[in-house]
Parts: sequence; C-alpha cells; structure tokens
Amino acid sequence: PLVKELLGLAALEERIRKGYGLRKVIVVPGDWDVSSDTKQELGRAGAKALLSVMEERDVVAVTGGTTLASIAEKLTMPVNAPLKDSWFVPARGGLGESLEIQANTIASGMAKRVGAGYRLLHVPDLLGEEAYHSLVNDPNTQEIVTLIRKARIVVHGIGDAMEMAHRRKLDPAMLQELRNEGALAESFGYYFDQEGKVVHKMLTLGLRLEDIISTEVVIGVAGGKSKAKAIHAVLRFGHEDILVTDEAAANEIVALL
Ligand code: G3H
Repeated sequence: PLVKELLGLAALEERIRKGYGLRKVIVVPGDWDVSSDTKQELGRAGAKALLSVMEERDVVAVTGGTTLASIAEKLTMPVNAPLKDSWFVPARGGLGESLEIQANTIASGMAKRVGAGYRLLHVPDLLGEEAYHSLVNDPNTQEIVTLIRKARIVVHGIGDAMEMAHRRKLDPAMLQELRNEGALAESFGYYFDQEGKVVHKMLTLGLRLEDIISTEVVIGVAGGKSKAKAIHAVLRFGHEDILVTDEAAANEIVALL
C-alpha cells in the first residue's frame, strides 16, 4: 500500500523547490481551507516574500482574490527601504468579483500600507472585440497598461478552474468548454490544464501571458488542500519564481511530483 510520507515544513519546501525548479518556496503550517490561523500565516508569509524582493522604484502588479487580500492586510511599512517611488498596479481589469477582492482594491490597499504610489485600471475584464480596440487606443488606458506591462514583480493567487469559472459567472457553454479542455487551474485570467498548458485565454488589457513569462519575479501565493492540483498545474506552466503555500497543499503537491 502507498504510505504517504510525513515531511517537516523545511523538507516540503526543499522538495517542491527542487521538483519545479523554483527560486524559493515557503510553506506555512496548517490548511487554508479550514483554518483562519493558516489564512493569517499565509498572508504574513506572502507579505514578507514580497517585501524581500522589492527594490526602489519598483513596479508591482497584483491580482485580486481573498489570498491577495490577506497579504495586503499583513503588509507593513518597511523601516529602512522607502518605497515612495514604487508603484502598485492591478495585473488586469476587473473580473466581476466583489469590490473588496478586486485587483484595483488590492493594489491601492497595498500601496497605502507601504507608502508607495498606485495606478488603477478601470475596465472590465471580459471585453468584446470592439470595446477592446477602442480602449487599447485610448491614451489614458494606454498609459496605465504600459506601466502594468513594465512590472518587475507579479504577485498572484491561484484558483481551482471550475470554482473560479463559477465565481466569474462564465456561461454554461464556456464552463463545458473548460471542462472538455481539462482546465484545472485559473490564474491571472488564464486557465491551465494538468500539464501546465494554457487551455483558455481571454482578450485582455493588462498583463498578457508573454508579460508574465518575461517578468523578473513571479510570486504565486495559494494554500489549502483543495487547491493542490491547481497549484501543481500553474507550477508546471513553469514561470513561477517564488511559491508561498501551506502544509496541506504542499503535502498533496509532493505526491503529484
Ligand atoms: O486566480 C485565482 C484567484 O484569484 C484565487 O482567489 O485567493 O480568493 O482563492 P482566492
């Protein structure tokens, strides 16, 4: 019979780091799905990971979601590295989620907590061709989109594909299509299958896949046993640098390696 090995947190971190070729992995104790302590810890570890890579005059793009909101809550003003010349921007436009967890809200909240500046992108994420082309040519939108695409750091959440598709109120035909394509994960508006292949992308302003691929520091933050397959799929995509997760997800991830 298969006996699951019980590893300590440091051993889990090292296994995952090596297994996916990451720069750094942080595993906090517990399970995000059931523990409010773990939510706090993941937020704190995410905040620390971000501050550890920030430099002067940085541009940081952030996604929305409850995980990113928990990171924003834990960010504190760094004592000896002023961030007043740095910018926080949303990675994309709105994704039809509640205001508290939209990327714009997270970006402005984080900026205020560390004394940085922020710029917002006020466009819906699901754009028709026509709206897309007129917005792309609008000078104000162009200015902020240019700044977003210059981000040196991206901090993003990872969600289960079907859960996110429901949260974003995709229509039943679209849901079926994602299911047929084997979508397991959703992150920054893209859907990934178990090999880390992008199976669905949306016409979007803000960060495109090619921007993420060329971003210097990509930080993924996600925990909970229920997200393990989704995290694995995004790690397989192969462009993460730092992963912040929890013990429950990490134990499942090492079994998928
Ligand atoms: O794309 C993934 C979602 O933003 C994750 O959302 O942090 O609320 O689970 P969550």
